[in-house]
Amino acid sequence: MSYEYQFIGLCCVEGTGPKACPCSAAREKKRCFAAGIKYTFETMAEQDKIQKLLSEVGSDKEESMMEMMLLLNRALEERDEYTRGHSERVSQLAVLIGERLGFDAKRLEKLARGALLHDIGKIGIPDNILNKPGNFDPDERARMNKHPEKGHFLALNSHLLWDLIPMIRNHHENFDGTGYPDQLKGEEIPLEVRIVTLADFFDALATRRPYKEAFPKAKCLEMIDEMKGKKFDPQVVAAFHAIVDAFYEKTIRTFNENPPHADR
Ligand SMILES: [Fe+2]
Ligand SMILES: [Fe+2]
Repeated sequence: MSYEYQFIGLCCVEGTGPKACPCSAAREKKRCFAAGIKYTFETMAEQDKIQKLLSEVGSDKEESMMEMMLLLNRALEERDEYTRGHSERVSQLAVLIGERLGFDAKRLEKLARGALLHDIGKIGIPDNILNKPGNFDPDERARMNKHPEKGHFLALNSHLLWDLIPMIRNHHENFDGTGYPDQLKGEEIPLEVRIVTLADFFDALATRRPYKEAFPKAKCLEMIDEMKGKKFDPQVVAAFHAIVDAFYEKTIRTFNENPPHADR
């Protein structure tokens, strides 16, 4: 059994019964899952070995899940050379901001996964819109702006993605309530989502896109400061300022100096 990606126990549904479990439900020959769990743990004598087993199974599972999410994201980004690596950089930057804001390891791990898959709904956007070099016409803009909702509906198909839905659905909300799709405002927007919004915006500004060149770092910071309290949560902007220089040098500058080429 797992809860929020944490492996919390084994459920033994075989072996429940009068001999396996002393509880009244089992004595009455009713199926008793709780008794099964208790029995499994009580009859395996070496508890430390059990704990080791559980943590190994749990971490294998988390690693596999992260690999699956990376694969899903890379499949999306293969369609567009300009945005290749975008979501992985957004994820890295979001984690740095989350760390600065004091998130614990579990919350950071969820933030990393949500940021990685924030644009997964773009899978449902046609190539001619996704890769359009110029500005969108109103109809194209409306279709593009549907990607958070498309992502939400995709995520509903797997319980492994349910806790990421706010980051997928609401990463284009604005702090002042003028964003989309739900016009959430201020703290109605979960903090994780406010972080992804800023990390997403910064990466889009600081790297080359089909419709624009990369903006210099100073210009990006100026634009973000101008939108503090409007598009962005001021506390997230403050945390971002504390970590952005090192991130930019290590990640954005390297990417911009070695951009991917359309060589396929
Ligand atoms: Fe997006
Ligand atoms: Fe994005």
